[in-house]
Order: sequence, then C-alpha cells, then structure tokens
Amino acid sequence: GIRRKMNDSDTDANTKAIDSLLNYETVKYFSAEAREAQRYDRSVARYEESSVHAYTSLAVLNTGQAVIFTLGLTATMLMCAIGVRNGTNTVGDFVLVNAMMIQLYQPLNFMGMVYREIKQAIIDIEKMFNVIHREAEIKDAPGARPLVVSAGTVRFEDVRFAYEPKRPILKGISFEVPAGKTVAIVGPSGAGKSTISRLLFRLYDVSGGKILIDGQDIRQVTQASLRASIGMVPQDTVLFNDTIRYNIRYGRWDADDAEVEEAASLAQIDHFIRMAPMGYETQVGERGLKLSGGEKQRVAIARTVLKAPPILVLDEATSALDTHTEHEIQGALDRVAKNRTSLVIAHRLSTIVGADEIIVLDQGRIAERGTHASLLAQDGLYASMWNRQREAEAAREKLARMADSSEAPNREPPPVEDALAAQAAAE
Ligand SMILES: Nc1ncnc2c1ncn2[C@@H]1O[C@H](COP(=O)(O)OP(=O)(O)OP(=O)(O)O)[C@@H](O)[C@H]1O
Ligand SMILES: [Mg+2]
Repeated sequence: GIRRKMNDSDTDANTKAIDSLLNYETVKYFSAEAREAQRYDRSVARYEESSVHAYTSLAVLNTGQAVIFTLGLTATMLMCAIGVRNGTNTVGDFVLVNAMMIQLYQPLNFMGMVYREIKQAIIDIEKMFNVIHREAEIKDAPGARPLVVSAGTVRFEDVRFAYEPKRPILKGISFEVPAGKTVAIVGPSGAGKSTISRLLFRLYDVSGGKILIDGQDIRQVTQASLRASIGMVPQDTVLFNDTIRYNIRYGRWDADDAEVEEAASLAQIDHFIRMAPMGYETQVGERGLKLSGGEKQRVAIARTVLKAPPILVLDEATSALDTHTEHEIQGALDRVAKNRTSLVIAHRLSTIVGADEIIVLDQGRIAERGTHASLLAQDGLYASMWNRQREAEAAREKLARMADSSEAPNREPPPVEDALAAQAAAE
C-alpha cells in the first residue's frame, strides 16, 4: 500500500510537470507560473512524504527482523550455556548451535529480502500490467480481411453514436458519398461533424447502424487497411517535434524527396519553406508550435496529398488560412479531391458551394440536405447561415472601402457600428 502510494504520487508529479511544460503558453497568458510551481511542489511533497514513509517502514521491518533473530539467538545460546554448566551439553554443542543458528539466519534474511524486492517490483510494474491487460476497445473482428476499395463509395446507414451513454451525439445519420463525389457537412459547433470523421476512421465504433465502404462494413475489415485507404486533414493539426520534411513524409514513409517537395508545393507551403533559412530541415518545435496556424494546416494538407488515399476527409482543413491562401489551396484540394471520394467539413460555406451534396447537421440529426442552390431555395437553416456569412463579408468590404475613402472623412459619419455589429453577429 505504501509503495503503491509512493508510485502514484510520483506519476502524479510527472504528469503535472509535463502538462504545465506542454501548455507553457497558456500558463504565461494567465501568469500562472507560481500556481503551477505550487501545484508541482505539492505533488512532489506528497511523493517525498510517501517515499520517506516507505523507507521508514522498510527500516522498521528490517530492525524488527534483526531484533527477533538476535533475541532468539541469545535465548538459544543462554539455554546451551546453561546446558554446558549442568554438564548435559559440551562446549562443542555450544559452538555447533551457534554456527547453525548463524547459517540459518543468513538464508532466512536473504529470502525475506528477495521476497520484499519481488513484491516491490511487482507493485512498480503494476501500472504496466494494467495497461497490458486492458482490452482494446476497437479490435479487428476475428478473421477480418483487408478492405478492398474498388470505387470508394462511403455509406452511413442510420448511424447512432454516443461518447457517454447518457448523451447521444449522433441520432440516426444516413447518407452516401458516391464514388469520386464530394459531400460537405456543415452545421453549428458541437453538432457532431468531427465525430462523423472519427467514426469513419473507426477511432470509435458506432453504437447503432453501420458504416460501409464499397459495401464492406468497416467493423469487418482490418483497421490497418481501413486507415490506409482514408486520408484525413484534422481540425487541429499536431506536428511531431522534428523537421518539416519529416512531418510531411509522415504521410507516406517511402516517398522520396522529390515527392515530398511536390506535395509541399501543392499545399502551397513551399514558398514558406524556401524563405526559412533551414528549408525542409526547419525544426517545427513541440506539437509544431514554431509554425503559424496556417503553416501547420498546410503541412497537414501536404501530408495527406502525399498519402494520396482513395477517400479523403477534410475537417476544417483551411480554417486557419486567410481568404487568399485558402482560395489557392482550395484549387489544390479540388485537384486532390478530383476522382476521390471526399467528405468535407467546413464552417466557411463559400468553400463548399461546389459540393455534390451538402448535409446540414444540427444536434446529431440531418436538418437539411441538397445542393447549394436547392438549400438556398429551401430558405431554412443553411440559407440563414449563408446569409449571415454574406453579411459578414459585406461588412468587411464596407470597412475596407471606408479605409480607402478616409481622405474625405467629413462627408457623412461612417456606419462603423453597423458593420461591426453585422460582423459580430456572423462570428
Ligand atoms: N472524446 C469525447 N468524449 C466526450 N464527448 C465528446 C468527445 N469528443 C467530442 N465530444 C462531444 O461531442 C459533441 C460533438 O463533437 P464534435 O467534435 O463532433 O463537434 P463538431 O460538430 O465537429 O464541432 P466544431 O464545429 O466545433 O468542430 C460535442 O458536444 C463534444 O463536446
Ligand atoms: Mg469539429
């Protein structure tokens, strides 16, 4: 118990240290260095306390053992000495008993120590055993075969899903992405859009319904083959603390340098790479923190371009880019998506107007579906989202025009509040 507590507080202290180091920017934003230091200090103090406790109890145990043995030895020696005085024992007996007792003590002491060591080692690796014995939630079905992608049709059939049983996230979603077509998913934050992409990747299993790729239930194929067939540009890109080249090549290990560079140029990141003194060997820092949000996103796009999978999932792939760069990448993405089945998740509706079908997700259900034109004609949720984004764009244009005509400011008071309010409403 004591040893276990000591290990737990050690783990706790390590976790806290790593957590606050990884999030050092947040720590600084909130001037929380002292608080983090205290938090770590408390954990270390707990570790200190329990390790002192562990070693004290060990010392007590050792002393106890020694005391008991010494008492026993003294008693037998005394008894033997009495026997010698009474003439029932000889001096030889005395020496014999003494030698035997000491020889007995050594292995006994040794065994006790070995027992303690083994016990402690088991406690120390208990966490590891827990991890090893834990069953993976997502397992390949017995006899699972590799996924065969012929056309690349993706089908969701009445898919239901909840992260926690009490709170359903998807409540019966059915749609199909025909081979080579593009389907866009839009909807308010928290509607379950990214969840759909995670389910397609089988990071979680659906709790109802099924997901099919070319007629094969994704639960019946091997995970490796499934994931090899899908390329994903996730909502938040996290990079490895290595070079840009390493991070792009992550998409496909056997790609040569020329292929890596071609992918980079398709994702419009080659310009940035040329500007960097170290070029492709530029270190990106932990989680890629030395790159801007847009640069990270383009590395993620380059990776996926390099992977060149038959099915493509883009989750807000261009959200961190300015409209100009977005426009250029959109061209590249369109080229990549050509003849590939694509599922595109986007907030900025202007990027998905060309999709073959647009699905409006709201609170885990499909609220509306259709092409851009037909959804606008329905004048529902999509139309209102679209109009608000148009308003925001109009406001931006208005502000830009006002900046241009600032030479004649007295003609009429500029309606800045209107424009700002419209923009705020749309954000
Ligand atoms: N691992 C998780 N455990 C529990 N709940 C989760 C988990 N991941 C997401 N959720 C919840 O599921 C809901 C849907 O999340 P999801 O990421 O799919 O939203 P989204 O539609 O992609 O939103 P956004 O547009 O903000 O990215 C959210 O309310 C979220 O809190
Ligand atoms: Mg999301």
